[in-house]
Amino acid sequence: MGYSVTTPIFYVNAAPHLGHAYSTIVADVLARNHRQRGDDVFFLTGTDEHGEPVANVARDRGITPQELVDENAPKFQAMGPVLESSNDFFIRTSDPRHKAAVQEILTTVKENGWVYEGQYEGWYCPKCADFKTESEIAEGNTCPIHGVPLLRESETNWFFKLSAFQERLEQLYADRPDWVVPQSRRNEALAFIKGGLQDVSLSRNQITWGVEVPWDLDHVFYVWWDALLNYVTALRFGRDGEDLTASHWPATHVIGKDILKFHTIYWPALLMAAELEVPTRVMVGGFLLVGGTKMSKSLGNVLDPFDAIEQYGADAVRFYLLREVAFGSDGSVSLEGLKLRYESELANDFGNLASRSTAMVRRYRDSVVPDVAVDPVVAASFAGLGDTVSRMLDDGQISQALEAIWERVRLLNRFVEEQAPWTLAKAEKVDPTSEGFDPDELTRATADLDRVLRTLVEGVRVLAVLLHPWLPSSTVVLLDALNVPDLAWSGAELGTGAAGAVGDLAPLFPKDRAAA
Ligand code: ME8
Ligand code: MG
Repeated sequence: MGYSVTTPIFYVNAAPHLGHAYSTIVADVLARNHRQRGDDVFFLTGTDEHGEPVANVARDRGITPQELVDENAPKFQAMGPVLESSNDFFIRTSDPRHKAAVQEILTTVKENGWVYEGQYEGWYCPKCADFKTESEIAEGNTCPIHGVPLLRESETNWFFKLSAFQERLEQLYADRPDWVVPQSRRNEALAFIKGGLQDVSLSRNQITWGVEVPWDLDHVFYVWWDALLNYVTALRFGRDGEDLTASHWPATHVIGKDILKFHTIYWPALLMAAELEVPTRVMVGGFLLVGGTKMSKSLGNVLDPFDAIEQYGADAVRFYLLREVAFGSDGSVSLEGLKLRYESELANDFGNLASRSTAMVRRYRDSVVPDVAVDPVVAASFAGLGDTVSRMLDDGQISQALEAIWERVRLLNRFVEEQAPWTLAKAEKVDPTSEGFDPDELTRATADLDRVLRTLVEGVRVLAVLLHPWLPSSTVVLLDALNVPDLAWSGAELGTGAAGAVGDLAPLFPKDRAAA
């Protein structure tokens, strides 16, 4: 089955920071989970290269917009591999194939009767590239997101008849109550719609950096239409020699809450106007904060993903961000917090569980996993977990899914302590000539130790399969050491793994990394 997932495309007016990385990681978790489920995945990310946010920074630096985007786009492209993002394509909206497709689709929208020429008069944030309505203006006539003064704009533009889609949008929200998640964001978008929609500019004539309006060459398309359309244009050329439109649209979008209006109101309306299907789902994340304020290039308080990954590795940074900042909420991040979770959860809870489990098989069973049934109580706790995690991910419950898995990490740690395999191993070693020797007790100790070791290795294996979307590298290292490299999601059932020989396993999350 085709499955598509996207990140926002990033403005290339500065270098990427952890806030951008966050959406990429969330989308990558979804993409990897679906690949493990056997779907034909198309995971799309890229850069938004037009409009004022880019043009203004270029002007301030005394270079052309093209020079600026050519300087910065590669930094965003480089972030993918560093984060272990498995995106299938990276779109740049300056790509001529994208521009041609934008012109074609928006011409259709005009031919369908949804475009007219008019006079725009109102308040505009050049950093959001957003025409603000009354409810979106902060104290002192400023942008609620960027804090900058809003500009009074007045120009003759082509308009999109957004107001004509009021009823159809309300119907969409009624028919599909969870098409925007979490619910709080869905309610916010719906309230905005119910407040009454006004028509929006489709083009700008005081800006030249953009996709030309083919029927009026003095205009470029308003950057948001050009940007949103990347999600469908990329399907035409994102995979060599194929057009994925029929198999891979609609898509699931992962976005930040700052671009809610565009994705949950403008975008479905435009798709309706173009007679295309609306997205499968829009998943809306909160902000990463630093010391209580949004991490943002405008504010200059950014954490560099490359530095953090250099020290702790991509797996740790991915895990930290998604565990620390519950998807949908805002949350503060810091290098101290990363170090704490690295040590307590990755090194201790998970890494140590994997190390002990394999070490005990080596020590007590000469590296061969006993081919016996798994512990029924542990098996019951794992039963159906793969389906639960997949369902949560599809519903945008990204953090809940990770917590559901982590509950089993903790459960297995308790299981080791309770079963105390080291005591069972001692009981096995008892001297048969010693006084009061009971052969039944020996048989029991051996059977118990077999069961415990098999359960631990199976538990660790299933956890590795389930955690792979979050921890793509270390889980592969672990599964290789267990000699069960299969990542298929169907293997996430306790007891379905082969009981072979385990190899050596170096610490997955070495403590000295955190000490540096
Ligand atoms: O808005 N915390 O681009 P952009 C969490 N080009 N997420 C953050 C973040 C933070 N501190 N800072 C940024 C644009 N993001 C448009 C999008 S899509 C068709 C066009 C994330 O570079 C968040 O998801 O300003 C935000 O929406 C996205 O980066 C893009 O930010
Ligand atoms: Mg922004």
